[in-house]
Amino acid sequence: MIKVRVQDLKPGMIIGYPLLRDDGVVLLREGVTLTNRLIVRIKEAGFEYVYIHDRRFRDVDLEETISYDVRRQALLTLNDSFFSIVKGKQTSLEPIRRLVDEIIDEVLSSKRSVVSLVQLRQHDDAVFSHSVNVSALSVFLGRFLGLSRQQLRMLALGSLMHDLGKVKVPLEILNKPGKLLPGEWEVMRNHPLWSVELMTGKAPEEVVSIMVALQHHERLDGSGYPYGLLENDIHFLSRICACSDVYDALTVDRPYRQRFSYAEALEYLMGNAGKLFDLQVVTAMVRHIAPYPVGETVRLTTGEIGVVVKLNEGLPIRPVVRVIRDQNGNALERPRDIDLLKELTVAILCQAEEDAEGFYPRNEVPPITERAFLD
Ligand SMILES: [Fe+2]
Repeated sequence: MIKVRVQDLKPGMIIGYPLLRDDGVVLLREGVTLTNRLIVRIKEAGFEYVYIHDRRFRDVDLEETISYDVRRQALLTLNDSFFSIVKGKQTSLEPIRRLVDEIIDEVLSSKRSVVSLVQLRQHDDAVFSHSVNVSALSVFLGRFLGLSRQQLRMLALGSLMHDLGKVKVPLEILNKPGKLLPGEWEVMRNHPLWSVELMTGKAPEEVVSIMVALQHHERLDGSGYPYGLLENDIHFLSRICACSDVYDALTVDRPYRQRFSYAEALEYLMGNAGKLFDLQVVTAMVRHIAPYPVGETVRLTTGEIGVVVKLNEGLPIRPVVRVIRDQNGNALERPRDIDLLKELTVAILCQAEEDAEGFYPRNEVPPITERAFLD
């Protein structure tokens, strides 16, 4: 399996990982052969990447945080419960609590200490996919930060609900391409409070989960919102959710900025560790999340192009890479694997993408603007 940008899809390619819409409906199943019509549908649905079957990478396992089945179930449950809650039909969070346990069981049962994030969500307002990603990532990090099961449950629930208050933010504000006006910004800043409003009364015993949703945009230096809290006033579980939230939000296109690569997003978190984000949490991310996930095409310091095929425990920045093109861009007849844990003179230079002329490095770093982190 290899990750391919939507603009590089061609008829005849075979889907390697199902495409899930934000409401849990499967847009395309694994094994479907792409036609021009299907490619248009994928673009219209707003997907940015697709995993494609490729005989050179038949043996590759994506090594993700949660499986496709749990992800799909999570989206269905979240959609169902959320709309019932908003309409006032549902007063209990029971289905979401069961979902929380499923996510935790799945993350804890995996022996993996390094994961790739499978980022196949639709851009713009795919709030449910974002919630599921953030929750799974928070639980995964929580495992390495020594949290108890009870703490993981509170973290997972808060992370699932953290952005649901965005339902009250008008779409023209949520998806505005330019800078928000002060009045619009005021509305946006309220979404954590509205998430809490949805939870209150339904989860009175989950005070900490409510806190996680409330504080997910607070930053250690007081620059966050809604209250501008400082370090010790921000709960540790909220700090975990803040990091997962930013990481997941930065790695998709938004109307007002281009997506960050995984490596760039991690770089941003590292650069602000101790200032905006909790150092211990960011350290766990660096140790346990692959900056170049499985299936990603990369350029090596040798000038060769390869695809990440396996992660190495303990050192996610040095995975096993299958080289497919030499330094002149010529395709290799027989791809060969380089284990960067053994070949210490070679490293990954950057993410690479293929265009009509062949591969080129992804060197256009999106501007880091204030707006970029308000998702
Ligand atoms: Fe948010």
